[in-house]
Amino acid sequence: MDLFEHQAKELFAEYGVPVPTGKVAHTPQEARAIAAELFAAGSSKVVVKAQVKTGGRGKAGGVKLADSADEAETLAGQILGMDIKGHTVHKVLVEEGSAIAQEFYFSFLLDRANRTFLSICSVEGGMEIEEVPHDRLAMVPISPLEGVDRAKARQIAEQGRLPQEALDGASEIIERLWAVFTDEDATLVEVNPMILTADGDVKALDGKVTLDDNAAFRQDHEKFADKTADDPLEAAAKAKDLNYVKLDGSVGIIGNGAGLVMSTLDVVAYAGEQFGGQKPANFLDIGGGASAEVMANGLEIVLSDRDVKSVFVNVFGGITACDAVANGIVSAYKLLAERGEAVDRPLVVRLDGNNADLGRKILSDAGLDGVQQVDTMDDAARRAAELAAGA
Ligand SMILES: Nc1ncnc2c1ncn2[C@@H]1O[C@H](COP(=O)(O)OP(=O)(O)OP(=O)(O)O)[C@@H](O)[C@H]1O
Ligand SMILES: [Mg+2]
Repeated sequence: MDLFEHQAKELFAEYGVPVPTGKVAHTPQEARAIAAELFAAGSSKVVVKAQVKTGGRGKAGGVKLADSADEAETLAGQILGMDIKGHTVHKVLVEEGSAIAQEFYFSFLLDRANRTFLSICSVEGGMEIEEVPHDRLAMVPISPLEGVDRAKARQIAEQGRLPQEALDGASEIIERLWAVFTDEDATLVEVNPMILTADGDVKALDGKVTLDDNAAFRQDHEKFADKTADDPLEAAAKAKDLNYVKLDGSVGIIGNGAGLVMSTLDVVAYAGEQFGGQKPANFLDIGGGASAEVMANGLEIVLSDRDVKSVFVNVFGGITACDAVANGIVSAYKLLAERGEAVDRPLVVRLDGNNADLGRKILSDAGLDGVQQVDTMDDAARRAAELAAGA
């Protein structure tokens, strides 16, 4: 799970990492009130920042400075509702403006390729880290056994070429961010920019944190969950324990096994090019045991997306053999008809693997409306794309 900037900063503050004072607003009026408080407390400027879980907010016009509470209200009005890379802004962070002397980059992350943790530190901050030349940044592996104490933190800051006057503050922050990273089971803690202020203080001016969902059972991270952003279909699928991701296309996809579903997306997108650019409408992995109920739930979710014009069911029979899946499809049709949601769009089914012949026979004997069987994955993808285009 990714956190919003304001959540990351609240977490940082719990660990003693200095962050600007600020609060979240959902309306321009709230933004005005928070800004007024900040000015009253002595801020000379306030910053209004879009809270969306994507980068490049500044460039998109989602980070603006205000000189008065009036201006903060106006800016919040412009930023709220804005679309940044497909994310709608539902809230803004209104915080005290800092007098920035210098901007740095810092992060801890899980380096999967090298099976270790990594810290990245650079005297060049504020911009995207990908744009910083390699010789201007330090990449320091962190042993999970040794961790990061103050001395190690200082070493990282020095390797990142941070100026002398920022070293004390930065190493204290880095040591504390390591505590955030490990205690909260994060896979990423990024501060871009970490700043040196005109007064010589070091602060986290931005925060990006990714928490490891596999550790959810031993953490109290539910409080960070974002109910508003979930696509309603994704939320419904989650409630049914389905592994579903909504995409923008017209061909609904159901498969068993994440790898198979991923390659089905590719094959459909490729085949769809011949049919006016038809694309997959979703990712849905129904997993190993494709019972009738799971199949019915899957079909229901996929078909409740009105952009779906055809559905491609791609199954490779393994431990759950094709006859079980075919029976699952037949029962799912009945179940959905009983729920008053009879399948009303064409279904292309490709069964292969364990008991494929039996599965195919069960399906053809059932004579379900709109179901077509195609033997190979490529042909089935083409047929599904064609049907989506014709609809
Ligand atoms: N509290 C603040 N006071 C003064 N300037 C700020 C403050 N917050 C942000 N800024 C300025 O705005 C720039 C962009 O802010 P920030 O890094 O939070 O957003 P971003 O980088 O555009 O977004 P993202 O990190 O999502 O790509 C900062 O580099 C900094 O120069
Ligand atoms: Mg940033």
